[in-house]
Amino acid sequence: MSRQRHPYRSVAVRGADNVILRPALPEDAAQVIAYMRRVFAEPGINLITAPDEFNPTTESEARLIADMNRSANSLFLVAEDDGRIVGHLTLQGGKRRHVRHAATLGITVAEEWRNRGVGRRLITDALHWARDGGVLTRIELFVFTRNTNAIHLYESCGFQVEGRRRHSTFRDGVYLDDLVMSLLL
Ligand SMILES: CC(C)(COP(=O)(O)OP(=O)(O)OC[C@H]1O[C@@H](n2cnc3c(N)ncnc32)[C@H](O)[C@@H]1OP(=O)(O)O)[C@@H](O)C(=O)NCCC(=O)NCCS
Repeated sequence: MSRQRHPYRSVAVRGADNVILRPALPEDAAQVIAYMRRVFAEPGINLITAPDEFNPTTESEARLIADMNRSANSLFLVAEDDGRIVGHLTLQGGKRRHVRHAATLGITVAEEWRNRGVGRRLITDALHWARDGGVLTRIELFVFTRNTNAIHLYESCGFQVEGRRRHSTFRDGVYLDDLVMSLLL
């Protein structure tokens, strides 16, 4: 993107914990891969990537992080507890000119940290960054209809349901529907 990247600043109210949010750095790549592998391997996790489909090298992950950090419409945040990654959020901005205003949100929190407000903090900070940057005007995401806590979280952060994709995923022998949700900034 030609527009300058807006600096990230954490605005979300911290919980009664030591978790900090910060942009991922290329040197986090190995830890990010290990963290994501652990999340993808959880039985029944509401994500579409199977663990054996996630095979980045440390170099390619570091490059991805560096590229996102350079881009004006993408963001890669990690939540860190005492040096350990316990959550992540990505905003993947559109690459083509006509869709540069839109980004797709992805988010995970480590199992032991769920329902303690880390997801809300990640989303709050990402939306603040996007609003302040003035480049992104639409954030979209896909969420399985059965992922009720995530849907609750997104709706309470202002996302609205745009539609339902029937049988969008086939997994463990069953079809799953997902919702398309978006927030216009
Ligand atoms: C979705 C996810 C990122 C949310 O992160 P989190 O840190 O647990 O979220 P928070 O603690 O900030 O908020 C969770 C909210 O869901 C609510 N909640 C919990 N269980 C719920 C349920 N069964 N139904 C409805 N709401 C529920 C909590 O009360 C909380 O809302 P509140 O702040 O209004 O009280 C996390 O659960 C996760 O990583 N899940 C696995 C990966 C995943 O599903 N990612 C999203 C893919 S679209």
